Amino acid sequence: MDKTHQFTPALSIKDLDVDYKAGEHPVAALREINLDLFKGDRIGLVGESGCGKSTLLKAIMGVLPKNARTPNGQILLDKTDLLTTDGETRRKARWARISMITQSALNALNPVHKIGAQIEEAILSHKDMPKEKARERAKELFDLVGVSSERLDDYPHQFSGGMRQRAVIAMALALEPEIVLADEPTTALDVIVQDQIFDRLYSLQAEQGFSIVLVTHDLALVVESCERIVVMYAGMIVETGNTKSITRTPLHPYTAGLRYAIPDLTLDHDPISIPGAPPDLSQPFQGCRFAPRCPMAIDACWQDMPSLEPVGQAEGERLVRCHRANEMNDFRDRLSQQDFWFSEIKTNE
Ligand SMILES: Nc1ncnc2c1ncn2[C@@H]1O[C@H](COP(=O)(O)OP(=O)(O)OP(=O)(O)O)[C@@H](O)[C@H]1O
Ligand SMILES: [Mg+2]
Repeated sequence: MDKTHQFTPALSIKDLDVDYKAGEHPVAALREINLDLFKGDRIGLVGESGCGKSTLLKAIMGVLPKNARTPNGQILLDKTDLLTTDGETRRKARWARISMITQSALNALNPVHKIGAQIEEAILSHKDMPKEKARERAKELFDLVGVSSERLDDYPHQFSGGMRQRAVIAMALALEPEIVLADEPTTALDVIVQDQIFDRLYSLQAEQGFSIVLVTHDLALVVESCERIVVMYAGMIVETGNTKSITRTPLHPYTAGLRYAIPDLTLDHDPISIPGAPPDLSQPFQGCRFAPRCPMAIDACWQDMPSLEPVGQAEGERLVRCHRANEMNDFRDRLSQQDFWFSEIKTNE
């Protein structure tokens, strides 16, 4: 049986909407987000730039900027709604239960303090323990992420990019969180260092059992390492499910587009690219947000937003937001061909 049926989720997001106040109209950055995260999960969150990946992680972490609003929804951690609970409960959850690794280690580290001292401080601000013990823990963490503990008294600028990113991972794991949110954690690093860091992060996950939500533009990395994928488009989840199953049989045309954009020797075609660009999220819309770019769009797609629904035959739990998900078997081959993406696109007029 799918393990998702056996456990209650570590974190449950229900009907979450997030708006940003900016300019004349608010930006509808997230809409109808529903997502359960289970202990030990490794979820890859993918989608084009601006689809709301970072907004979702920030909402979970409780670090949305001041111009953000959450008009709807809940983020439940043990039945406590992080969106409405008191500041103290939220502060305690942050780092101790949910931590975040961002792309820029430099933003996460204070340039004027020694790195070891910053980790100790992070520990001491949540845990009542003698300073020496926090120091021991910082040493241990450096060992875990593969940096010599002799470097604890260095300042961030004395570290290479890869070492800084390891230090940030050490910081994120300092309080043994249940959930680690990783927003393009290695984008700024070269591929070899990137691989080393993921190896380390994943082996720590195997030891400690935290769950990971990994945001990346690298779909191949997700396919390699995450057991579940969440595909977002224009602020909404359009497909989620088991990675292998989604890679084999994408059921949303957008997912198919992303999938066939990866070079793949087992497929008899060149990588495609999805023509067009995502919509302006400050403009009202009707129907499916992907319709303007979708070669399969029919009248219903322009009129009604499809809901995220289970689609039967797929292995594991598969949710898809597409009126034509059940017809995908007839379309998949065509979606792997670049020409098809240009051929039947309808205009919005
Ligand atoms: N502080 C802000 N104020 C106003 N709009 C914002 C703000 N932050 C993000 N947005 C808008 O919200 C939408 C979602 O942005 P977000 O940064 O979450 O996307 P993303 O998927 O993380 O993109 P990327 O892959 O480029 O990091 C975008 O339209 C973006 O322009
Ligand atoms: Mg982002």
